Amino acid sequence: MELKIKTKTSEYPIIINDSFKGLPEAFERVSLTGRKLCIISDSNVAPIYLDEVKKLLEGRFLKVVSYVFEAGENSKNLDVISDFYDFFAREQLDRRSVLVALGGGVTGDMTGFAAATYMRGIPFVQVPTTLLAQVDSSVGGKTGVDYKGNKNMVGAFYQPWFVYINTSTLNTLPPREFSAGMAEAVKHGYIIDKDYLYYIMVNRQAIKALDPKALSKVVYGSCKCKAYVVSKDEKETGLREILNFGHTFGHAVETICGFRLIHGECVAIGMTAALYFSMQRGRITQRDMKAAQEILTYFDLPVDVKDISTEKVYEQMFYDKKTKDNKINIVTLDKIGSAYTEKDPGEEEIMAALGYIVK
Ligand SMILES: NC(=O)c1ccc[n+]([C@@H]2O[C@H](COP(=O)([O-])OP(=O)(O)OC[C@H]3O[C@@H](n4cnc5c(N)ncnc54)[C@H](O)[C@@H]3O)[C@@H](O)[C@H]2O)c1
Ligand SMILES: [Zn+2]
Repeated sequence: MELKIKTKTSEYPIIINDSFKGLPEAFERVSLTGRKLCIISDSNVAPIYLDEVKKLLEGRFLKVVSYVFEAGENSKNLDVISDFYDFFAREQLDRRSVLVALGGGVTGDMTGFAAATYMRGIPFVQVPTTLLAQVDSSVGGKTGVDYKGNKNMVGAFYQPWFVYINTSTLNTLPPREFSAGMAEAVKHGYIIDKDYLYYIMVNRQAIKALDPKALSKVVYGSCKCKAYVVSKDEKETGLREILNFGHTFGHAVETICGFRLIHGECVAIGMTAALYFSMQRGRITQRDMKAAQEILTYFDLPVDVKDISTEKVYEQMFYDKKTKDNKINIVTLDKIGSAYTEKDPGEEEIMAALGYIVK
């Protein structure tokens, strides 16, 4: 399966497959062969997939080298990027060389940032191996690193030459990481595509069992949603905001109890609050609300959180990156499959939504 991303500045394919076999041809199609190629991967992904990918690509390139960094968000900083540059210089990568991000969102964001900045920009491709990266972070061209504890503070918009998704890599992904990706997939359904949401609901068992056909439909459905949003608003000045559905509530929960919950889990909790907000406004029904909680719970995602104070979460929401002029904006639904931003709705409604998720 395949779809195209079109932005003002570029156009590139997202190729969805259940193996790595089509990868060499993908490079041929965009005429990126015959150069030096550097695969960047992390210490969890490299032992499982690096050899296979390297073997497939050797022979088509002048030289294939690889750089492996320590897995985890803690590596997503300028020190590790600086190690990348040292390695590129040692291997004499030049402006024609290509980088490949083989891994999750951390690998993709860092490799993209290194590609955007090394020699003022060299080509790179995304080969995402987590569900989150396949349905979210590899598409859209946001790259970057954390800086002194601030998430994604330094970065650039930089589009890959193509995205190649092998859904069979999800077989080795820890279940908790799979669930986290499902939170973003469900989000796409709620904000953009009702039919896609119903596909997930109806085929939940096959998806959870990692059935290849079901997985490719999920990845396709989400990439289509992201492609739509990104093509209309590449640099997040308007429409792209709706991708933050559940994230204003979710980020605040994440900051306060991030040590016990991962991002996707906080998004599930945040979405529950945002859906409750929509229900208060009469945009969705109680039945919709129940169905949402059911699907999130089915994918082992939390829909509420214990032992935190609603006031603290509320205060934290003012520190969100997306909060402008000290006003909280909430992405909410006007109906299932369609979202908009509610500007500064006021404390009462927000507190009611928080009251719903804090048990
Ligand atoms: N650029 C964007 O638009 C965007 C969007 C959302 C999130 N992000 C970023 O993405 C990052 C999170 O991404 P993530 O959840 O993929 O994190 P990650 O890259 O750290 O991957 C999660 C874990 O899974 C392991 N892993 C990856 N693929 C595997 C596989 N197939 N089998 C076994 N283990 C595997 C990794 O080594 C890691 O331990 C964050 O830094 C976030 O800021 C970026
Ligand atoms: Zn997210």
